[in-house]
Amino acid sequence: MNGEKRKNREQIFAHSGVRKILYGGDYNPEQWPEEVWKEDMRLFQLAGVDCVTLNVFSWAALQPDEETYCFDRLDRIMELVKENGLYVILATSTAAHPAWMARKYPEVLRMEFSGLKRKFGGRHNSCPNSPVYRKYAKRLARKLAERYGHFENLIAWHVNNEYGGECYCENCERAFRVWLKEKYRTLEQLNEAWNTSFWGHTFYDWEEVVVPNLQSEHFAENRTTFQGISLDYRRFCSDSLLRNYQDEQAAIREVTPNIPVTTNLMGFYKPLDYQKWAREMDFVSWDNYPANDTPAAVIAMNHDLMRGIGGGRPFALMEQTPSVTNWLSYNALKRPGVMRLLSWQAVAHGADTVLFFQMRRSIGACEKYHGALIDHVGNEHTRVFREMQALGEELKQIGGRTLGGRTPAKVAILMDWDNWWALEYSAGPSCDLKYLDEVERYYTAFYEQNIPVDFVSVEEELEKYAIVVAPVLYMVKTGYEEILKRYVRAGGTLVTTFFSGIVEEHDLVVAGGYPGRLRELFGVWVEEIDALPTGEQNGFTWNGKHYPAELLCDIMHLESAGGEAVYETDFYAGSPALAKNHFGKGIAWYVATRSSQEFYHDLIKRLARDAGVEELWSPVPQVEVCERQNEEGKFLFFLNHGREDAELTLEKAGIWIQKGKPYEKGAKIWLKGKDVMVYQVQ
Ligand code: GLA
Ligand code: ZN
Repeated sequence: MNGEKRKNREQIFAHSGVRKILYGGDYNPEQWPEEVWKEDMRLFQLAGVDCVTLNVFSWAALQPDEETYCFDRLDRIMELVKENGLYVILATSTAAHPAWMARKYPEVLRMEFSGLKRKFGGRHNSCPNSPVYRKYAKRLARKLAERYGHFENLIAWHVNNEYGGECYCENCERAFRVWLKEKYRTLEQLNEAWNTSFWGHTFYDWEEVVVPNLQSEHFAENRTTFQGISLDYRRFCSDSLLRNYQDEQAAIREVTPNIPVTTNLMGFYKPLDYQKWAREMDFVSWDNYPANDTPAAVIAMNHDLMRGIGGGRPFALMEQTPSVTNWLSYNALKRPGVMRLLSWQAVAHGADTVLFFQMRRSIGACEKYHGALIDHVGNEHTRVFREMQALGEELKQIGGRTLGGRTPAKVAILMDWDNWWALEYSAGPSCDLKYLDEVERYYTAFYEQNIPVDFVSVEEELEKYAIVVAPVLYMVKTGYEEILKRYVRAGGTLVTTFFSGIVEEHDLVVAGGYPGRLRELFGVWVEEIDALPTGEQNGFTWNGKHYPAELLCDIMHLESAGGEAVYETDFYAGSPALAKNHFGKGIAWYVATRSSQEFYHDLIKRLARDAGVEELWSPVPQVEVCERQNEEGKFLFFLNHGREDAELTLEKAGIWIQKGKPYEKGAKIWLKGKDVMVYQVQ
């Protein structure tokens, strides 16, 4: 199978004959005596588990020393799960190197941001630029592919596990210089890009460049005296880990070209540019671990990002906890019904699997209190088991109906990792300015109105969207303004906010008036930016309603734009806080300050109406509504996040699939607290 075919597949596991939402997850039999394995098989069968992820942390078991590989136990596990009719997602085990390797080759160990060299311990402890680590990781991946590639129940490869973190060691320093040479070619260009004439930082030799950490340019995690080098180091770290992924993927593909390869991502994870990563992966998979108080909208937003980076194709929910995590300060249980609700929420946003960490709760080390299908009691007589068993039944009943379903969205939010990194490295104007806070505010406004959202990157054309929101588009990369102009000129509605268009891709300010390259498109000139300390507010009135202005207030002049609202206090009272510019056939809105959720709600409502974007369903408090479409039809997912029962008026005729019950248009139904209805529209 060539790359294009692998990527264009609508159903992730169609090649393996999978016809339902896969159910199961991380299974670590190597932590248990073999007598227990048989009992596990019985319990899996009982719970409706049909897929296990194996071998996630087994490197030490598979390679006890530099020369020896022993696969006997994994062979037995692979045979056992095959006999028991389970699909396998096989991991490569490279997220934690063996102790002998650290001892013999200390270069595989990471150096922390502080300059502290690690010893053996923990996981994600390997330097991504260590030649020894890279050699042995590739070798192990290849050996696994050679040994297990013929198993017909092997449906995907899971490389490493939750790649992340950074390293600042000498391997990385050397590799960084190579990366920089490839990028800038000459030191003159590097000096220019980093503006090194500031504070006399001019480099005359590549060897003078050192990694930016607490020993050099940084004075705190996110505080750097030189944004240029710090930003490039983030790009370099993301690329380094991506190269580790590609090393293993290439080794595997040579042996098993037909089995798709993935690694489990983590939603809005700042250190890795997942848009770049996803372009290399056969399909996207991710681990959903909301904290106790994470709003449903934020979970939804993470799913949508994961769908977006994969170009809208279905993704795999690789992990979630059945009940509880171990790493929060307060690890509250998922209340009855919540595991099911969150599982369906993932499916509603594009997941074609419902997988968990983990199948059996371990007895030692830091995850012994992490939830599992099989608890320490070791049997099926637990609330968690019963709930999982019930969901297993329900997924069997739903079968393959929703597989491959796409979410048709008319709205997009722009997401760009470079912008995220650069914005939050910037010293000033406010330490409270966080990219995701602003993204979340707009996302939530759409979410509350049941308007589906896609996340897009700066690489994508925007024509298919009626509305595009680019919150704090601080960095406008060379040429990106043309994509935006093309979009608006052709009739699109574009929204951006305060502190946008300030810098180009090296974090150098675009001189000539803010918002730089966006000035013509938005028809405004921002002269000054005022940061309001927490608790201080300005305000404005729009369409007869009063709203707060906080965080940042851009003080601007209208050029071609029309003013929609003005600041009401301070020396800039009367200057515009909201501007609207007709550009070609479209409209560009500049929201010059941060306001309340109510404002975002009202703004989005108005923009959706003007642009003809309809909500999927009239909003019902606490009930999320999503849509997926495939050849089988249109499926609406109603997810009641509230504790109270909710009354719904069915706006379309259809079938409540779990009940097998048809409804006429206009019928009224009750959806219980935490309940889910999958509704096939007729
Ligand atoms: C991550 C990892 C798992 C496990 C869980 C615990 O998602 O991938 O190995 O540690 O966290 O929540
Ligand atoms: Zn390193």
